[in-house]
Amino acid sequence: MTRVVAASDAAIAEAADMIRAGGLVAIPTETVYGLAANALDGKAVAKIFAAKGRPQFNPIIVHCASAEEAAQYVAMNDMAHALAQRFWPGPVTFILPRAENCAVSELASAGLPTLAIRVPTHPVTSKLIEVAGVPLAAPSANMSGTLSPTTPAHVVESLGGKIDMILAAGPTTFGVESTVLDLTGEPTILRPGAVTKDDIEMTLCRSVINDFEPRDCTDHGPKSPGQLLQHYAPRTKVRLNAVDIEPGEALLAFGSTRFMAVRGVGSVRDLPEAAFKNLSEQGDLNEAAANLFSMLRELDKHGHKKIAIMSIPNTGLGVAINDRLKRAAGSSMIAAGGKT
Ligand code: TXA
Ligand code: MG
Repeated sequence: MTRVVAASDAAIAEAADMIRAGGLVAIPTETVYGLAANALDGKAVAKIFAAKGRPQFNPIIVHCASAEEAAQYVAMNDMAHALAQRFWPGPVTFILPRAENCAVSELASAGLPTLAIRVPTHPVTSKLIEVAGVPLAAPSANMSGTLSPTTPAHVVESLGGKIDMILAAGPTTFGVESTVLDLTGEPTILRPGAVTKDDIEMTLCRSVINDFEPRDCTDHGPKSPGQLLQHYAPRTKVRLNAVDIEPGEALLAFGSTRFMAVRGVGSVRDLPEAAFKNLSEQGDLNEAAANLFSMLRELDKHGHKKIAIMSIPNTGLGVAINDRLKRAAGSSMIAAGGKT
């Protein structure tokens, strides 16, 4: 059951408890309703992908209460400071490098070295972020492939039954999503939105590049084409559906490893920590999604011959996990001069 609750102080306090406990809450913002989880909790972020039914891990915008808070998670540069001063709180999202020791789940970045961040201006959501005491990862609160919701009723239509609570605060003001602006290099608009190119150029006193496909107003396909194609790919070759491993390989396990062996050597239990990670000993896809990017990155650091990955059931979040792993295997084949 999804409860639709008018956003009183008591409701905000209850929503904050749910967020801290790892639950999902639909929130009002000035642009569209968002589907929020604690951005610092990978398992909570994984639930967003499960609820939206996304077959892929797209990166998610993280919402903070202030620019100071945002600066804990991303490396703000001069352009970001100037634009934050002018437009935050408000409907523009910056893509910036993740800060060193960024505490936001790597799943929110979908494995990219960057993070999308914004400070929304809606009083209910500002209060919620403050009371919860954590930043909120929140994409638009609709099923993948459908329109962004601008009323609580839209959220019920799309996600009713899939989330715990909707904080209802009437229709949103702008009705279009935030502008997504990549500030990692030449300033580039990846998604047009409530803050315009002119607004941004006036503030930066320089020209800004447009890099987006014609809007189709749904979640179909990547809306941030230029950037999204540059997904993180491990440098180490990846081998899928491993049933045992060769000496020199690292193992990314899923579920029990009782019957996994290192060929001609013995049990994988004797592998050093640098060569062994388990996405989820219990075989929990939600936990596996939460661990995927950080564990791949860890195993990629040590110059192993290959990363062997056990098979992952292709249901629920497993579809997105397998999509990501196939890309990792594909890019390592290309890097190795194999199939294209
Ligand atoms: O107005 C909004 O932005 C709403 C409210 C809830 O804040 N949120 C929203 O989120 O529209 P979503 O997930 O539906 O769209 C986020 C867009 C996607 O196109 C995503 O690909 C892009 O931002 N994005 C997120 N992180 C990115 C990153 N690190 N690099 C490039 N693009 C990114
Ligand atoms: Mg969306």
